[in-house]
Amino acid sequence: MAKLIEGKLVAKKILENLSDEILFLEKKPCLAVIIAGNDPASKIYVNSKKKKAEEIGIKSIVIELPENCTQQEILEKIYTLNNDESVNGILVQLPLPAHINTKEVLEKINPIKDVDGLHPYNLGHVASGSKPYAHPCTPTGIVRLLEYYDISVSGRHAVIIGRSNLVGRPLSYMLLNQNATVTICHSKTTNLQEITKQADILVSAAGRKNLVNADMIKEKAVVIDVGINRQEDGKLCGDVDFWSVEPKASYITPVPGGVGPMTICSLMQNTFDLYKIQNKI
Ligand code: GUN
Repeated sequence: MAKLIEGKLVAKKILENLSDEILFLEKKPCLAVIIAGNDPASKIYVNSKKKKAEEIGIKSIVIELPENCTQQEILEKIYTLNNDESVNGILVQLPLPAHINTKEVLEKINPIKDVDGLHPYNLGHVASGSKPYAHPCTPTGIVRLLEYYDISVSGRHAVIIGRSNLVGRPLSYMLLNQNATVTICHSKTTNLQEITKQADILVSAAGRKNLVNADMIKEKAVVIDVGINRQEDGKLCGDVDFWSVEPKASYITPVPGGVGPMTICSLMQNTFDLYKIQNKI
């Protein structure tokens, strides 16, 4: 039977400490979120980010733009936020509407305010093993979970399913920077099971329910599920068939309550860290 990695509890502890530190600040950190369009999941995520920020004393600004907004409108908002000294972190909720050039939008955020760590400046520092202003939130949350549960990474084989800029790619570098042997699998990988069975640490960030079952993991593997999928009954589930994998794994994250709360927790920590950098604290 695997030990449950309780992201919800770990995030709560980290946020309590963060809240205590913020309590004593005269000027509070401020997070600005831009959301464009009507994606229902994005609206839920943005609301929970706003709610969590306010709970721990971080100011939040949400800028909503319509589905048919222009590239120029988004860039103008970013320009204003870049030049607003009271704003410490800028996050553009993804995905953006299909007609928007996401790469250009992310590249216009001042890297020192890039709270998501998705600007090439920050991703480049992660990739080269040096210090970015901020690391991407979900990979940071995963690394903090591994640290919290004393799961060693050095010398172990980490297999990541998914090569997104949000999770797979930055996580691969972050684990490599901690001396893991890293393999990335993706939708074109032909021998997925052969590779996942070699994983000491398996991270699935594919967004496909029941992608990972017991036959795909090694005995005593650490299994981290980043997937957020909807079941037929509307409930959330991950990429991992939890009840098939759990008896064989050594550690496993639940969905919900695993990686998800850690992503928001990292966002709050990044906002505070950027505030400190900008205020030279
Ligand atoms: N959409 C889904 N997850 C994320 C995230 O971590 N950051 C942003 N900006 N958009 C997302």
